[in-house]
Amino acid sequence: MKEDFPIFQRLINGRRLVYLDNAATTQKPACVIDAMSNYYSSSNANVHRAVHTLAGEATEGYENCRNLLKRRFNSKFAIITSGTTEAINLVSHAWGEHNMSEGDVVVLTEMEHHSDIVPWQMLAEKIGIELRYVPVEDGKLDMDAFDVALDGAKLVCVVHTSNVLGIRNPIEEIISKSHKVGAKVLLDAAQAVPHERIDFQTLGADFMAFSAHKMCGPTGIGALLVSDRAFSEMKPFMGGGDMIETVTLEGSTYQTNEHKFEAGTPRIAEGFGWAAALEWIEDIDLEFHHGRLLKIANNVSTELQNRGITVYSSLQPGDAAVVSFTHPTIHPEDFARLLDAQGIAVRTGHHCAQPLMEKLGVNGTIRASFYIYNDKEDADIFLSGIDRVLEAMA
Ligand SMILES: Cc1ncc(COP(=O)(O)O)c(C=O)c1O
Repeated sequence: MKEDFPIFQRLINGRRLVYLDNAATTQKPACVIDAMSNYYSSSNANVHRAVHTLAGEATEGYENCRNLLKRRFNSKFAIITSGTTEAINLVSHAWGEHNMSEGDVVVLTEMEHHSDIVPWQMLAEKIGIELRYVPVEDGKLDMDAFDVALDGAKLVCVVHTSNVLGIRNPIEEIISKSHKVGAKVLLDAAQAVPHERIDFQTLGADFMAFSAHKMCGPTGIGALLVSDRAFSEMKPFMGGGDMIETVTLEGSTYQTNEHKFEAGTPRIAEGFGWAAALEWIEDIDLEFHHGRLLKIANNVSTELQNRGITVYSSLQPGDAAVVSFTHPTIHPEDFARLLDAQGIAVRTGHHCAQPLMEKLGVNGTIRASFYIYNDKEDADIFLSGIDRVLEAMA
């Protein structure tokens, strides 16, 4: 599969690239790069307005991305955003501000990415909602505490799959319990959609946010899927071109579909690129790769622990192949630099999840995250790289 990805022809510090920073962003197949470049070189125009040929092609290509999203995720609505972060902020403004008021409860977890914490803290400051955090115990959500937190909740925001631990949360149970008490559910699915085929309507969540760049698509584009009911409760948050039906000096009326939430010129080239990625990934058996990568990650985890390294990911069936670890004495950044010198790319730091780091009792971890183009050879090179770091720092 690496042949589809031009970047794997590159050497890093004279070595073949072993890319294990996929939870941050995945690499792009040539078809995605070509789709974006072809749009600029042969179809470049703005969308939705003009009747000329190029405008028609641009509109068709951009809307093709939306249609592919709706089809792949079985969703009636797909609002195109700049990514997961904008999608969650959109919910807080377009739904939260109009459907919640002082004292209303939003349930979050200690495992959330900052993009699913900060928007709610900002809304709490603005309208006085109450935030309750479900604790993480032994790397898992404390579901007894979740049951307690749910009392009187209006909205539950939860990360489907953790970007730090790779753990897949019990989403089905969370949705069912939340709906029983009348709370809506927002899923941060940034790390879920790359690994798992999700049927949004069958799953039954109200909002689902994710980014193209974690599933071989371009950066700067993502989506918010919304249930029928939630869509009818949302009000536009950004005003401008493209989202209106009529404008007079006295007032405006808005579009009734997703465009209502997409003011201004959208990410057209990125739409072409994401459409190409969605078509490319359609032929990939994610379940097969998921199982294969989890096996590789489990083996890596065991080998790291055999070398006296602490691993925080439990890598159970269903979890993503993400191995977060720390060494008792080597600083994560030093570790990552020494791996980079050998052509191995991993991520270090708090991974935009500082509350979870605090819970784990660390400032940061080193994270090796595997994706569909990684293989056992990558894992072997990674482990040899680890041995060289341990030797160098002994
Ligand atoms: C779980 C999770 N949520 C949200 C985000 C934010 O995604 P983006 O930066 O594409 O908006 C990320 C990205 O790392 C993530 O892993």
